[in-house]
Amino acid sequence: MEEPAAAQSTFNRFDPAFLTDPYPFYRTLHSQPPLILQLELPTALLARYADVVAALRDFRTFSSAPIRQISQAHIFGGVPTLILTDPPVHTRLRRLVNQAFAPRRIREMEPRIRQIANDLLDKVENAGSFEAMKDLAEPLPTMVIAEVLGVPADDYQMFKQWSDALLEVSNVPPGAPPPAGFEEALAEEREYFRQRYEELRRKPGTDLMSMLIQAQEKDALTFDEVAGFFNLLLLAGNETTTNLIGNGLYALMRHPEQWELLRRESSLMPSAIEEMLRWDCPVQATGRNVIQDCEFAGVRMRAGTMVVVLNGAANRDPAQFPDADRFDIARTPNDHVAFGEGIHFCLGAALARMEGSIAITSVLERFPRLRLGDAEPVYKRSFNVRGLINLPLSLE
Ligand code: HEM
Repeated sequence: MEEPAAAQSTFNRFDPAFLTDPYPFYRTLHSQPPLILQLELPTALLARYADVVAALRDFRTFSSAPIRQISQAHIFGGVPTLILTDPPVHTRLRRLVNQAFAPRRIREMEPRIRQIANDLLDKVENAGSFEAMKDLAEPLPTMVIAEVLGVPADDYQMFKQWSDALLEVSNVPPGAPPPAGFEEALAEEREYFRQRYEELRRKPGTDLMSMLIQAQEKDALTFDEVAGFFNLLLLAGNETTTNLIGNGLYALMRHPEQWELLRRESSLMPSAIEEMLRWDCPVQATGRNVIQDCEFAGVRMRAGTMVVVLNGAANRDPAQFPDADRFDIARTPNDHVAFGEGIHFCLGAALARMEGSIAITSVLERFPRLRLGDAEPVYKRSFNVRGLINLPLSLE
């Protein structure tokens, strides 16, 4: 068994060059066992597909609960949150929300999502210019999640601001003070939740929040847990889907032959969405903590080791995906891990796939001659969540 050499590699998740293009670095990790780095804590980097899948399936060794209150933990305001819990708490919370995200419930939302996409693209057509992030990729998921949560879609700009400010916390090193605007955003979001909570308690609708409030009244959930769901869904359902649409459109624009193929063969849309998720995935990394000493993939890991699970690297592992760096919208099979694996597999996967598919189809139908604009798209300076700040496109 290999001893975990304290390999200090070039891994620096705050380096702008790495954030712009992390894939060359990942390539160096595919041919070796997990690296153990001495960062703030001993940190294991999992990049090979088989290692990522094995770790995500083994929640008894790799826990989702934060080791200690490092800054990321506060992103959800410190309230109990599905994504940061292990069984049995996770099992109870997940059971309560699974129903609301069942594929049948999601299909019922299709006409409404299509209408939102069309309204947004009407504005683009009238303006004659298309900034794909601002005009479509950002507002669409935020407006959809507002409807899921039973809050007015018109409040979406506020949600976007909070979600941006809260996510910024994952861009500061553990232990560093929270970024400017973080506490304010959390306080405002909390206050907004409290008001909506009272309203929905008095006058419940058919939305998810009303359902959760009813569960709370039967003592199946605490008030803090309801608040945690609201917060989590606002964040998890927003930025990720925005980046599926943004990264996906950008990938198609950089591969015009794939755009043409999709235009000719619309039946490829489902596999095209999977390839967008694999090739430039919105969630590049998820976190786990080792809670019992173990030997994993031939490497000794001690309890207390932080684990950076590189979903984005696993999706480019040539041992799993032939010609892994090629963007191929017809790729099958395509068992990517963009939505994770195991008990924390993305709750909103069906919704995200549908939003992505409706957004890209609507753009393709309206603007078949779409191509990249003159300005260079720039990636945000976030490691875990990968997405663009801007994506100017030309309609001609
Ligand atoms: C393309 C868009 C999306 C991507 C790439 C994505 C990715 C992920 C990933 C990788 C995980 C697993 C995290 C882990 O293992 O620690 C996850 C979990 C989760 N996602 Fe998504 N997600 C997307 C959209 C959404 C949407 C639209 C929603 C809700 C409306 C959502 C809600 C959640 C929730 C609640 C969890 C936690 C599940 C659990 O812990 O059991 N996601 N997502």
